[in-house]
Amino acid sequence: MNKQPKIVILTGAGISAESGLATFRAQDGLWEGHDVNDVATYEGYQRDPIAVHRFYNMLRQKLRDPHIQPNAAHFALAELEYKLGRENVTIVTQNVDDLHEKAGSQHVIHMHGELLKARNEKTGVIFDCQNDIDYLKNNNIRPHIVWFGEIPLQMDEIYHLLTQADYFISIGTSGHVYPAAGFVQIANEAGVKTIELNLEPSLKESQFDQKLYGPASQIVPEFIKQLI
Ligand code: APR
Repeated sequence: MNKQPKIVILTGAGISAESGLATFRAQDGLWEGHDVNDVATYEGYQRDPIAVHRFYNMLRQKLRDPHIQPNAAHFALAELEYKLGRENVTIVTQNVDDLHEKAGSQHVIHMHGELLKARNEKTGVIFDCQNDIDYLKNNNIRPHIVWFGEIPLQMDEIYHLLTQADYFISIGTSGHVYPAAGFVQIANEAGVKTIELNLEPSLKESQFDQKLYGPASQIVPEFIKQLI
């Protein structure tokens, strides 16, 4: 039996842009008009929890919009997992949307949390959350989102998978935010072949062995075809 390659794929907001979700750092991006310190830090949440819930309730409502659906890039990654096997393909996403799962991917690590989950701060219990959170009714419930200054999720597992991989493919991320921005260096040091697929060169562009630039819905299926 042929040994299948092991592939770790990092995705960022760029993969969901053509599905209608704003990226963070574009001119009309998600952070535009919002102070990150207000809506994406624990300190901001302590200062004004109602405003923070309003922001995430708005994002959650957007995700429920039936027009927001996976695009060809999400589907290509789901097909890759289907063809090579769940144990060989891992998506590590910085995205808090559910478009990888909607496209059919099963092995997805949400390192920055998930918009459609909430967490009880007192008990730590994580649960599905499709609707608005009303802070006034339950002030123990926070979005299951990793805010700036908090530790991303499942990092040990991610580093293990990354150093054991044959390929590391980074898709639709600007390379501004660590630890994800440091994955390419770790992969390089472990002898993993590194590929960047993005609309334009990211901050980490020079560290990748191979790169392809264009809209994710075009370049991701094109690149993935070679691996199947
Ligand atoms: N196809 C491919 N790439 C695209 C597309 C597209 N259609 N549209 C935009 N991009 C690229 C942009 O060129 C940019 O390099 O996607 C990248 C998006 O970058 P950011 O907005 O910085 O998003 P991301 O890298 O995911 O942000 C990382 O920062 O704000 C925090 O926690 C948040 O998870 C987020 C993290």
